Amino acid sequence: MATLTWHGHSCFMLEHDGTRILIDPWIDENPTADIKSGDVGTVDYILVSHGHFDHFADCVKIAKQTDATVVSTFELVQFCQKQGVKNGHGMNIGGAYLFPFGRVKLTPALHTGSIAGDEDGTHTTDCCGFLISLDGGPSIYHAGDTALIMDMQLLQGRVDVAILPIGDNFTMGPEDAARAVEMIQPEVVIPMHYNTFEVIQQDPEGFRQMVGDAARVEVLEPGGVYEA
Ligand code: NI
Ligand code: MN
Repeated sequence: MATLTWHGHSCFMLEHDGTRILIDPWIDENPTADIKSGDVGTVDYILVSHGHFDHFADCVKIAKQTDATVVSTFELVQFCQKQGVKNGHGMNIGGAYLFPFGRVKLTPALHTGSIAGDEDGTHTTDCCGFLISLDGGPSIYHAGDTALIMDMQLLQGRVDVAILPIGDNFTMGPEDAARAVEMIQPEVVIPMHYNTFEVIQQDPEGFRQMVGDAARVEVLEPGGVYEA
């Protein structure tokens, strides 16, 4: 069994067999977050989909505070290490690696990239999602920030829980996210990246209706927990 706790926007804590994996940590300045970064507790890994502030802002701070290993695209991990982060594991899109807790594969995401805090802009960043196949547990797809892309068809049959953005404007909106569900065919879908900013206001119940019988939609409140 695994638990997923939503801390608002795209930030989730995934716990499985005593391993704690934090995804896209933007907490302290996130108006919808239920905690502060100082209260995050132990963290073993931090997975970061891209360098935009609303996914990355608290990564370096929490990595230093917890000695967590940052897992992301190669350049973003390099940037973290230059900021003093001790443990990093750089990867690239399409590549997978077997960690002690399970297999992580970086999936394509169609979005733009820059790194918050990279003042001279020397570190470009491509955006990714994560397919996390927990050892003896479910497979969880965190899509990151992305448009609807045909590549999502490649995930069909490989995902138990899909975490998809529905906010529109910066990412897929509800209609495209519902089409993503048709392509991926997960058992459960959890919407994210909505109702944080004015331009990404969405009603998750409308998304639930669009998904229909294609998957079970679990709508969480910040601080809410889903047991996978
Ligand atoms: Ni972004
Ligand atoms: Mn974003």
